[in-house]
Amino acid sequence: MAEKIISNDNGDTVVFCGTLVHSTNASPMIILQDQVIGVQKGKIIFVQPKEDLQRVLDQHGLPKGCVKCLTKYQFLMPGLIDTHIHAPQYVYTGTALDLPLLDWLNRYTFPTEAKFSDLEFATYAYNKVVRRTLRCGTTTASYFATIHKESSLRLAEIAADVGQRAFIGKVNADQNSPPNYVETLEQSLADTEWFIEKMKDLKNPLIAPIITPRFAISCSRELMTGLGELAKKHNLRVQSHISENRDEVKTVLELYPDCKNYTDVYDKCGLMTDKTLMAHCIYLDDEEIQTFKDRGSAMSHCACSNFSLRSGVMDCRKMKESGVKLGLGTDVSGGYNPSMFGAIRDTITASNVQSIQHQPDRPYKHLDFREVFQLATLGGSKVLGIDSIVGNFEVGKEFDALLVTMDTEDSPFDIFQTDAYRDSLEDMIQKFLFLGKIILN
Ligand code: GUN
Ligand code: FE
Repeated sequence: MAEKIISNDNGDTVVFCGTLVHSTNASPMIILQDQVIGVQKGKIIFVQPKEDLQRVLDQHGLPKGCVKCLTKYQFLMPGLIDTHIHAPQYVYTGTALDLPLLDWLNRYTFPTEAKFSDLEFATYAYNKVVRRTLRCGTTTASYFATIHKESSLRLAEIAADVGQRAFIGKVNADQNSPPNYVETLEQSLADTEWFIEKMKDLKNPLIAPIITPRFAISCSRELMTGLGELAKKHNLRVQSHISENRDEVKTVLELYPDCKNYTDVYDKCGLMTDKTLMAHCIYLDDEEIQTFKDRGSAMSHCACSNFSLRSGVMDCRKMKESGVKLGLGTDVSGGYNPSMFGAIRDTITASNVQSIQHQPDRPYKHLDFREVFQLATLGGSKVLGIDSIVGNFEVGKEFDALLVTMDTEDSPFDIFQTDAYRDSLEDMIQKFLFLGKIILN
């Protein structure tokens, strides 16, 4: 059994003693053995070598009884951050992957999302997705809901109840959508204002609204401009899709002929800011990547979705080297896997595919498991602007952590500790990342 510890723990002071695995800006993966980490009111108050235990207990006036020791096959890691997931699409995740993006949206996505006008159904489905992703270790998620304001609010209430940190987007769409799943410009903006106010009323530090134009095909210029203004007025983050599929890019450029590229469409509407997060980013050219850099906008790499809908393979190394903020997303249900451990594996595979495609003439440095671990944790926190709160085990941040047990009876992998072959601690952690259960508990 792998137990999971979620954020916002307001209970008693706890000190964990054992192995910590996390990332810093300087280092993609740091394995700290024999550490003690103190947690008070949900915040990390110290991280010290185990030898200092008595001294730090005395210093903080803590009893020995608050110390919990991990086994040598357990470790703590930061909670996973899913920077792009569609909550309503969870109902058909693992199915409906036979069509390319635009056909897939029309055939499966819009009809299913339209059903979320029914608050009772939405409550049922949203409970499932929040609980499932949390069980997979996603302690923070940036969700797309649907165009319906009440059920979008319900998603926020459920995440708040269950204790998952969440950005919740009421989706906006006023064109190129079916009649039962489209808004007028006025309704879309008014409902978004309503949603923002209701979200504020929740007064829950874990939950925030995020402005969510679906993508440039289903939003008019007026709507996107209005949403840009709303984001500015309320100081909110923005999420959308960009450059996921070749037909999508072509259609966007036909709809917005005065724009020099896809990024320029969003930029002209005031949607490319340092609070913006765009999913996919597969076909961006160098000028567009530069615009992301100049504006401080972030990217969500959704490898499972990019493979499953056969959209393309993002060049993650190039994006990383460009210095753009980068995180990982499941993109449920274009991506069939709600687990961010799946996203880590698919990101590694996508990078390997890029490496193969570059052969033999151009050298290419694939992403290794450490770098991808960093993207799924600290990277995601930067993408969502919460890196001063979560993302790693720095003192002062919230203790938002997963407790991983590697030697469970039903573990899908084996650890070798024989004279002939002995796994190092890093080997075990790598085995866990590649082979461990994608659902922790
Ligand atoms: N582009 C616009 N809407 C969607 C969506 O729901 N999923 C994906 N993967 N791409 C989109
Ligand atoms: Fe998506």
